[in-house]
Amino acid sequence: MEVIIRPHAEAGCVLGAKIIARVVRENPTAVLGLATGRTPQRLYQELVRLHRDEGLDFSRVTAFNLDEYVGLAADHPQSFRYFMQENLFRHLNIDPARTYIPDGTAANLHAECRAYEEKIIAAGGIDLQLLGLGRNGHIGFNEPTGSLRSRTWLKILSEQTLRDNSDVFGSVAAMPKHALTMGIGTILDARRCVLLAFGPPKARAVEQMIEGPLSAMCPASALQLHPRAIVIVDEAAAAGLHYADHYRWIDSHKLPWQRYD
Ligand code: GLP
Repeated sequence: MEVIIRPHAEAGCVLGAKIIARVVRENPTAVLGLATGRTPQRLYQELVRLHRDEGLDFSRVTAFNLDEYVGLAADHPQSFRYFMQENLFRHLNIDPARTYIPDGTAANLHAECRAYEEKIIAAGGIDLQLLGLGRNGHIGFNEPTGSLRSRTWLKILSEQTLRDNSDVFGSVAAMPKHALTMGIGTILDARRCVLLAFGPPKARAVEQMIEGPLSAMCPASALQLHPRAIVIVDEAAAAGLHYADHYRWIDSHKLPWQRYD
């Protein structure tokens, strides 16, 4: 795991956008895995700026999102499809037909999950998967104790996740209790992973994810198995790390071609 500590979320998001922009520049037909939540919003703004001001071209890019609430249609303001349209897709020149998100309204959710896996394979696999981090260590909607080899599936959301995400719904009662999500196995198949986590509420999950143990109790710890996983955190989210000075040392001694900024 490559751990990069930045002073604040702003710098972390700009760095994350640079990494994605480099992937897209090197491979204009790149397949990106994308995430929702508060964490990547600033990164998406930066991608929009790079598109607008520097001509970053998404016309041949394909995107697969991690997850979607069960029962929310694409035009529901709290659906992840709606979030992606508003925060990213409609500001880029990406082909809408190449933006995939699991359909939480599918009549057969099991078939929808299988079809999603097949679409990822048909696209050639994911080149870079962007991830946020739940306070309980979840990635996508893979809650603690879920299989570390799971494929896209239906998950029952934990009470903590419901509470954490309830503000935009007004209350936990108003929220869907189920979601479709890429599995941990699906995420680990991405050729590269970039996880962002900012702020004090994420410090405990960040420490468990990076410094272990590898455990289904912290699903994000599965990234320890990934050969190219980058974790970008701010100082607040890094507060619980025992080896923060080691990560800073490594970061400050990278060779020029190992740097992203
Ligand atoms: C949600 C999403 C995750 C996201 C996480 C953290 O439950 N399914 O993909 O990473 O919560 O969200 P936030 O970035 O808002 O803290």
